[in-house]
Amino acid sequence: MNTMTDDVKVRVEKIISKMSLRAKIGQLNQPETPVGSEAEEFKNAVRRGEIGSVLMSVGATAGNDAQGEINVDFYNELQRIAVEESPDGIPILFGRDVIHGHKTVFPIPLAMAASFNPELVGKCYRDIAVEATNDGIHWTFTPMLDLCRDPRWGRIIEGPGEDPYVGAAIARAIVGGVQGDDISKSDSMLACAKHFIGYGASEGGRDYHRTEISDYSLYNYYLPAFRAAVKAGALTVMSSFNDVNGQPVTSSKKYLTDILRDKAGFDGFVVSDYDAVTQLIKQGVAETPEQCAALSINAGLDMDMHDRCYIDYLENAVKSGTVSEAVIDEAVRRVLTVKIKAGLFEHPFAERKELDRTSHLADARALATESAVLLKNEGVLPIAKSAKVGLIGPFANERRSLLGSWTLDGKAEETPTLAEEMRKAAGDKLNVINSSTLAWDSTNKNIAASDVVVLAIGESWTATGESRAVSDITISADQKALIKKAKTYGKKTVGVIFCGRPIAMEEISGDLDAVVYVWHAGSEAAGAVSDILFGVSSPSGRLPVTLPRRATHIPLYYNVTSSGRPVDCYYGENPGNCYVDSMPVPCYPFGFGLTYTEFEYSAPVCESDKISLSDLEAGKRITVSADVKNTGAVTAKETVQLYIRDVCASLMRPMRELKGFKKTQIASGGTVKVSFDIGYDDLGFYDESGNYVVEKGKIKLFIGKNCLTENQTEIEII
Ligand code: NOJ
Repeated sequence: MNTMTDDVKVRVEKIISKMSLRAKIGQLNQPETPVGSEAEEFKNAVRRGEIGSVLMSVGATAGNDAQGEINVDFYNELQRIAVEESPDGIPILFGRDVIHGHKTVFPIPLAMAASFNPELVGKCYRDIAVEATNDGIHWTFTPMLDLCRDPRWGRIIEGPGEDPYVGAAIARAIVGGVQGDDISKSDSMLACAKHFIGYGASEGGRDYHRTEISDYSLYNYYLPAFRAAVKAGALTVMSSFNDVNGQPVTSSKKYLTDILRDKAGFDGFVVSDYDAVTQLIKQGVAETPEQCAALSINAGLDMDMHDRCYIDYLENAVKSGTVSEAVIDEAVRRVLTVKIKAGLFEHPFAERKELDRTSHLADARALATESAVLLKNEGVLPIAKSAKVGLIGPFANERRSLLGSWTLDGKAEETPTLAEEMRKAAGDKLNVINSSTLAWDSTNKNIAASDVVVLAIGESWTATGESRAVSDITISADQKALIKKAKTYGKKTVGVIFCGRPIAMEEISGDLDAVVYVWHAGSEAAGAVSDILFGVSSPSGRLPVTLPRRATHIPLYYNVTSSGRPVDCYYGENPGNCYVDSMPVPCYPFGFGLTYTEFEYSAPVCESDKISLSDLEAGKRITVSADVKNTGAVTAKETVQLYIRDVCASLMRPMRELKGFKKTQIASGGTVKVSFDIGYDDLGFYDESGNYVVEKGKIKLFIGKNCLTENQTEIEII
């Protein structure tokens, strides 16, 4: 028996036993921050015990709107009323979308995944939690773990990309960082794994649309990151807006209880997405708000975000018998358990102190550096100290887009531009050429006088994030024209691409001598990029998503099963047979990224070519390793990747599945043996019923630089 858990249980039951039905439902109610004259009535609702949690922002797509400085005094006043004047004295849980930074903004989550450095990601989320809790935020709606194969979806920027293994690694890192080593401490913040589930599969990348996901895909692709978050101790989960196969997740017992709780082992509480409960009417599974409330709570949805459906209708639902009070008690029990575990009763108030953010900014710069992916480099980077550099393009003087979407508290005016940072590094050897406009005439002379032209291009943050899907994932026509024009000067050109999502690269990569994909990388983006351009650091990011040649090749993802016909385009087998008009092999595949040196891999060696299933079941692991040699002149980091292929199984398995990665610094001329221990958890898959199976047979093991590696060995499970 765990005494802490028992104590919590006793405390929870003691509180519940004294609560009225109305007060219980109040704990399940999460309105957003009141505006203007709404504040007084809001305080009265707190006084009556009708508000269990407050969403510290305004509007469903808060990440797209300016929210203003957090009014700590106001929230403290609400808390005082809750603790001192409400019937049960239960503190309010304050939640905010602290997605990839608070005052210090870190790279967008997709970029973080590109770092392939979960340890650093975890450290950065610790910084984020320290800043956010200082402003009284108890709960953040992150990590967003939606696997996504469609770059048109604006929210692809908020997640870990296309791979479940990377998704799981990021989930552990973020939950660990946000919640810290002890969730009851005042600088630990509750994490919320979202959006459960399948939201990233919205049809056509159109936000909030339907999804069609087989159970087999759900268990193998969409669920692993959530399982990892649960295992890492995430105490809350947010349900998703979408339906899966005709079932809105908000009202689905299958997804919220049978899979999330029974299969994945989640025992915290589930919050709805914004207004999702009443949206069941629009989705066509309920006719009245009372039905919406009943369906949702009976499905296992504990807290209602914003739409007042629970607080206004659940009492009636209990009276009419569609919801039992026991179901409400169970939801309240979950909410109170989390509040107690989070130490909310011990430290309910914000005590905003002056924070020295110097080390947070340093971490942000380190992560921005590690997230940047060098896609191409034909003898131009790093730029020689003596070179005259022309800097051109709409991102040369840009600040706000560097921060990315879902930046509620970061300040654009405090964000250095690329021009400022490069000028610091290059001094008067830098020409900033018409950087704020794309007008051309006056640039000719300056370009002609430069040795290297850096084109700072990309997409605006306003084209990314919630409700911001695009149908065209190429960069804008004027930027394409700029690249073409720059090329005509016969200078070396470097494309620095500030994008949130993967963009179609075919049209532009051929015209650039070097390409660095730097994402929307936060407060320190510009400094990190300048460091990379001038060789102060070597790029080490790797793609967590495929970069297609054209938008029309979507969906294009690496962990695809094999066709029976000879048309496995991703892996280069007869791509011409896929489309007669274009080559659908990726422009840059999953896991790809270069640096300022070369690495050579030995063939992988496995300690044994056979392992028995019973040994695996008993916990035995097998080691596979390869020697990786840095053959160049620069010390740099390599992300060594392990993929497997289950050659023949009872269900088709992907042609490659990532099962390990290690980011390793290797000195110039040095060799490092990189080893991976693989075991039962790595070698199996889930069947359509969600049972994990490991089958006998051959498994290919690949160790290499990206998913296209053919550097392989084979073992057999006997
Ligand atoms: C809607 C978004 O889908 C969700 O991610 C966010 O946390 C909530 N709004 C609250 O802002």
